[in-house]
Amino acid sequence: MSSVRTQLVAGNWKMHGSLAVNQTLLQDVLAGLAGCKAAVAVCVPFPYLAQAQTVLAGTPVAWGAQTVSEYAQGAYTGEVAAAMLADFGCRYVLVGHSERRALYGESDAAVAAKFMAAQQAGLIPILCVGETLAEREAAITGEVVTRQLEAVIDAAGVQALARAVVAYEPVWAIGTGKTATPQQAQAVHALIRGRVAAADAAVAEKLQLLYGGSVKPGNAAELFAMPDIDGGLIGGAALVAADFLAICAAAS
Ligand code: 13P
Repeated sequence: MSSVRTQLVAGNWKMHGSLAVNQTLLQDVLAGLAGCKAAVAVCVPFPYLAQAQTVLAGTPVAWGAQTVSEYAQGAYTGEVAAAMLADFGCRYVLVGHSERRALYGESDAAVAAKFMAAQQAGLIPILCVGETLAEREAAITGEVVTRQLEAVIDAAGVQALARAVVAYEPVWAIGTGKTATPQQAQAVHALIRGRVAAADAAVAEKLQLLYGGSVKPGNAAELFAMPDIDGGLIGGAALVAADFLAICAAAS
């Protein structure tokens, strides 16, 4: 938590939901958000973007998608272009989530291309970085996260981070109930901010750095209290209105 950056809490619904379930969840979140000072967003599956737009337009909750094509248009069956997300009022899109990297083989270069495609369409990319358990145990967390970050800086330039968010999500903490300790998370956040600061101090100071990986109502406040943690990217707990609201409250 810092005085120069607003906190952001973004929910990543992953491949969960239905029209009926989403309607209740979104309405419950809106009903409980009064007084929340943090920025709040939900990243929903593609088919529910229209619903998110209908329910959330004119409210304090922004919405976005969970991935995007690196291409603007064309013969890419099954893909969704950034301009299409913009058509549905998206503010954010996740790029390089570890599940995309691990399960769908997204390379650092592909993630950088998606990041740039998102910005080209006026979206704010939420760039996800993070190490696996094997990488942490091999003591190469810093190397891995720096490589993932630098792929984007090299391709898009450090100034591009002025219109982006970075989320540190240690893969071993995602959906496992194992959270990085506030000190472990802070150390990586400080490393990320330091790397950006080496290229541009002003961009680094304003960059929102989210932590993701088993954030729950019970651990959110201590994570968000760290100086370089500016909010969270929330998976499982974003599917339960009361939990998501408690995490938003912890960020405000
Ligand atoms: P969990 O909060 O379920 O661990 O998921 C984190 C995540 O991957 C958010 O993008």
